[in-house]
Amino acid sequence: MTVLELDDVEKHFGGLPAVDGVSLEVDEGEILALVGPNGAGKSTLLKMISGLQPPTRGNIRFLGGEIGGLQAHTVRQRGVAMVLQTPRTFESMTVLENVIVGAMFGTAHGRLPDSVALARAREALGFVGLAGRADEEVGTLNLHQQRFLELARSLAGRPRLLLLDEVMAGLNDTELQASIDIVRMARDELGVTVIWVEHVMKAVMSLAERVVVLDFGRCLVDGVPEVVMRDPAVVTAYLGAEIGEDG
Ligand SMILES: Nc1ncnc2c1ncn2[C@@H]1O[C@H](COP(=O)(O)OP(=O)(O)OP(=O)(O)O)[C@@H](O)[C@H]1O
Ligand SMILES: [Mg+2]
Repeated sequence: MTVLELDDVEKHFGGLPAVDGVSLEVDEGEILALVGPNGAGKSTLLKMISGLQPPTRGNIRFLGGEIGGLQAHTVRQRGVAMVLQTPRTFESMTVLENVIVGAMFGTAHGRLPDSVALARAREALGFVGLAGRADEEVGTLNLHQQRFLELARSLAGRPRLLLLDEVMAGLNDTELQASIDIVRMARDELGVTVIWVEHVMKAVMSLAERVVVLDFGRCLVDGVPEVVMRDPAVVTAYLGAEIGEDG
């Protein structure tokens, strides 16, 4: 089943297009990596899907309904969650309170009963392995744990589609593997579809089932990782850019 359908989506900031006519279909349960050089338009594309930025042109359909140009909170209620690279946690709240907020954001039918939000938050914290830190302040978590907290916040809202923007940057090998395992588990156990922007090629090769390469706002190649990353057009696009181990 097609979950997400982009049709000729464009974004202009002033003159040059940041995203230049992207058409893409994503099936339920896919883990799709979106890669490409710096400035290729990857973050902009995710932000248009999640409602953080309206498209200049084109259509974005999610579960058959148009979401292009809707407000972020509306898109969130329809089942699309996004984790940005910079953690947006509430510092003055505990870990658990942060995730409760996430559970509330994901609900379309008014306010969730407190007990349900709490249960969903605890479940999500358990999912990312942070159950033992529930009552601590967010400031006690390291970068890797804060990324997991962001993931838990998104998952607590029970999304159908999860958009991840470089959530694995700067992690060591152990943390990287833990992150890969959690994203895979979210798909396998919760049925979440994942679109994931990533520079860490090691992670892309081990987790992604499909890779889409953006270059100058356009889809350059779309296919399985082993083939895509050997494509001459992709190698050329990355010349002089970072395609290393830790991006
Ligand atoms: N709010 C904005 N206003 C003006 N230009 C923008 C804005 N956001 C992005 N751009 C421009 O749009 C282009 C695409 O940016 P985007 O952040 O989507 O790239 P990216 O592929 O995510 O790059 P990176 O890998 O460095 O994160 C860039 O040229 C960028 O400078
Ligand atoms: Mg980006």
